[in-house]
Amino acid sequence: MNELKDKKILIGVTGGIAAYKVVEVVSRLKKLGAEVKVVMTRSATEFIAPRTFQEITKNPVSVEMFSETVNYHVEHIALANFADLVLIAPATANFLAKAAHGIADDLLTTIILATPAPLMIAPAMNTLMLEHPATKNNIEILKQRGAKIIDAETGLLACGTSGKGRLAEPENICAEIVKFFAPKNLAGKKILVTAGGTVEPIDPVRFIGNRSSGKMGYEIAKAAQFHGAEVILISGNATVEPPANVKFIKVETAEQMRTEVLKEFDSVDAVIMSAAVSDYRPKTIYPQKIKKSNENLTIELVKNPDILKELGQLKKNQLLVGFAAETANIISYAKDKIDEKNLDFIVANDVTQEGAGFSVDTNIASIITRDGEIENCPKMSKTELAEKIILRVAERL
Ligand code: C5P
Repeated sequence: MNELKDKKILIGVTGGIAAYKVVEVVSRLKKLGAEVKVVMTRSATEFIAPRTFQEITKNPVSVEMFSETVNYHVEHIALANFADLVLIAPATANFLAKAAHGIADDLLTTIILATPAPLMIAPAMNTLMLEHPATKNNIEILKQRGAKIIDAETGLLACGTSGKGRLAEPENICAEIVKFFAPKNLAGKKILVTAGGTVEPIDPVRFIGNRSSGKMGYEIAKAAQFHGAEVILISGNATVEPPANVKFIKVETAEQMRTEVLKEFDSVDAVIMSAAVSDYRPKTIYPQKIKKSNENLTIELVKNPDILKELGQLKKNQLLVGFAAETANIISYAKDKIDEKNLDFIVANDVTQEGAGFSVDTNIASIITRDGEIENCPKMSKTELAEKIILRVAERL
């Protein structure tokens, strides 16, 4: 119970009803050995008294930018430098907007600009506010800048409605913090992740593609990075933004993906091949748009290279992880693929199940290892599944 010994955590509490839950967060962090200081916005003090946090942290709670009671001159700089980690919980839509755009009009937002410490943000608000394009955009900006967002949960909200927007449970927030400070088990390792769907041109305007969103692979890249790995992300078509601070290589066709993967293969410790690679491509790419003429049109397809299979033949010490998107006999096909492609393990899913496979934010999968172990992962977010996959990679590396 001393995982956070000597860790200094600054918690910014903004004005939402969920502020009361942060008392529990602070209490847990203290029990884990952390030193905690709290900064509140003025609206947060409408929901909970600074004295509550003061009593638990045994530190003064700061609210005002120009307070007369503090005994050092540049309080925002002192607090900004104190922290090994800054957590904002609950983060209101207003805070997210200000932080995303660098507005520093109170003590907390000024500290955000002044701190070199990493930022974790746990938003909590009404569902419509959370899903408003402005808020989504602000969250995306903060993510791109490296902030870790602890997603709001779904349930009954203070405004009487039910939906996404509840502050993540204190237990989960603390788990994220413990994980953040955990030893970086992939430090010094280089991991290649492929993601998204390849695009095979038919003519200048048409192509053969698939429904891959890139979400699973991008989450894997993020998880690998979070655990300290250097990450190369080679991606086909995707609907999500790539994570910051990875070496990002965009490709279109399976052949381009193969070329880029082979360029990097010798230097990496593991490859996680989550891309949906088209098995076939048109034999001829028409230089002009195909005109509508005959009743039928036949496009001859030729087989694409199987990148993963080739890696399986070339591999020296690299760990190889494949994906298997199936619609039947998942486990047995997955086992065959481990042998055929010389993989260490495979993540198999039935793409026909609701909440699994392409486009959705969740997945239902089985992780099957070379030695026959099967871990069934019930419906969970792609972020959680990515974490499981990366932990297995870390274990084996
Ligand atoms: O054989 P199947 O396409 O089901 O295998 C899926 C796995 O193989 C995935 O990891 C996918 O990224 C990879 N793959 C590949 N090259 C292909 C087809 C699939 O690397 N041409």
